[in-house]
Amino acid sequence: MRPLVIAHRGASGTSPENTLAAFRRAAELGADMIELDVQVTRDGAVVVIHDYTLERTTSGTGPVHAHTLADIRRFDAGGWFDPAFRGERVPTLAETFAAVALPVNVELKPVGADDLEARALAVVEEAGALERTVFSSFAMDALERLRARSAAARLAVLWETDRIGDAVAWARRVGARALHLRKDAATPRTLEIAAAQHLPVRVWTVNDQAEMGTLAAAGVEGIFTDFPERFLHPSGRA
Ligand code: G3P
Ligand code: MG
Repeated sequence: MRPLVIAHRGASGTSPENTLAAFRRAAELGADMIELDVQVTRDGAVVVIHDYTLERTTSGTGPVHAHTLADIRRFDAGGWFDPAFRGERVPTLAETFAAVALPVNVELKPVGADDLEARALAVVEEAGALERTVFSSFAMDALERLRARSAAARLAVLWETDRIGDAVAWARRVGARALHLRKDAATPRTLEIAAAQHLPVRVWTVNDQAEMGTLAAAGVEGIFTDFPERFLHPSGRA
């Protein structure tokens, strides 16, 4: 059985990352889930963007958290990738849930203790989407605060080193049901330890078919990929 194919920042190999275009493309391709990154604006909106600053993926400049939502909406979030995508905007998390019916991995990228987890949880609950959402973060304190607010939220520990014992301990502490591991940390040893703890492992970022085959054989439950089509339509049909 193939692993779950999780569209990393949407179908970000062929569309501008973390835009509605990338999420809709992932849905068209038949992805099992989308992954996206969220941050909070100066006025408390939850927006979908990876970098802490606007330069790389929008026509704006400066930190995301220093701008209001209205400011950020004025910037173009597609033209940097390809002129055909000009007009894409940085989406809010609420818009994303309204646009796509797929399961969603909401990766929290807080800046200090900015209440991002509480705001993101409120958006997800308002959308009636708690059941199709997995929250993850490198920020264990954000996961702890999220768990304190919601017993029902599904959490995953996001982890990038081979100190798997620490990841397992955090998973226990916050009640996470999965580990999201950077691929070079997904060694046979770490996968074995996670399996013994009944923690499914999803691995990022995998764009190569042979590599996915190796990881699938090693027991990973899912892969995050920029190119879902390579795994869902390996013969080239998209
Ligand atoms: O959630 C998996 C992966 O997205 C974590 O790293 O930097 O791509 O958000 P990054
Ligand atoms: Mg991410």
